[in-house]
Amino acid sequence: MNDILIKTENLTKVYGEKIKTKALDNVSLEVKKGEFIAIMGSSGHGKSTLLHLISGLDNPTSGKVFIDNIDIYKLKESELTELRCKKIGFVFQSFNLIPILTSRENIEMAMMLLGIPQGEQEEKAKRLLKLLDIESKENSKPSELSGGQRQRVAIARALANNPEILLMDEPTGNLDSKSAEDMMKHIKKLNEMGQTIVIITHDANIANYAHKIYRIHDGQIVF
Ligand SMILES: Nc1ncnc2c1ncn2[C@@H]1O[C@H](COP(=O)(O)OP(=O)(O)O)[C@@H](O)[C@H]1O
Ligand SMILES: [Mg+2]
Repeated sequence: MNDILIKTENLTKVYGEKIKTKALDNVSLEVKKGEFIAIMGSSGHGKSTLLHLISGLDNPTSGKVFIDNIDIYKLKESELTELRCKKIGFVFQSFNLIPILTSRENIEMAMMLLGIPQGEQEEKAKRLLKLLDIESKENSKPSELSGGQRQRVAIARALANNPEILLMDEPTGNLDSKSAEDMMKHIKKLNEMGQTIVIITHDANIANYAHKIYRIHDGQIVF
């Protein structure tokens, strides 16, 4: 037993056949249970590639990813999908909410995929909306919400299935500084409740909320 929740081992990703781009170059890192990690770096240096590989959304060219000591790219496709649904919550920069659904329905969708009964879905969605201070927006559609509110619905949705890990790819990228700071207060609160969090950002103010900052340059972790 150890308390390492995420581990990457010499993770490398090369895109393209003829013209090759080495997006990620030999990255090894560890995230412990309950840790709050920021990954910083300029645009195009491999941050999203790293997060996608950690979440099982892409295949590495070489190297390994362990989640809870499971070598995830050795799993069958169906097992990897199940692991992703149960253990990982992902928040995208562009929110990716479903426009025709309300806040509550967007959150319920995530639980529907795991066959959670409707009553339980509703109760959980309401609890998450309250936790993120947007319970008054339960029945609003994304177009009726501010950017910050939309992002909080996206976070609530990512948390719907009690993931062990919350991954966020520049979640404040589309927010003004006040909304971004508000959001980070919620993220900090979630971490204090025990949530393991990995956040990507190019903003030092955001990264400073984390316990540990990794910097990535040309696909490599730099110290
Ligand atoms: N699907 C892809 N196909 C080809 N090249 C890609 C793909 N995704 C990312 N890249 C390239 O990999 C590098 C790292 O990209 P990315 O991980 O998105 O960086 P960041 O998130 O730090 O902006 C960039 O040079 C980018 O153009
Ligand atoms: Mg990116």
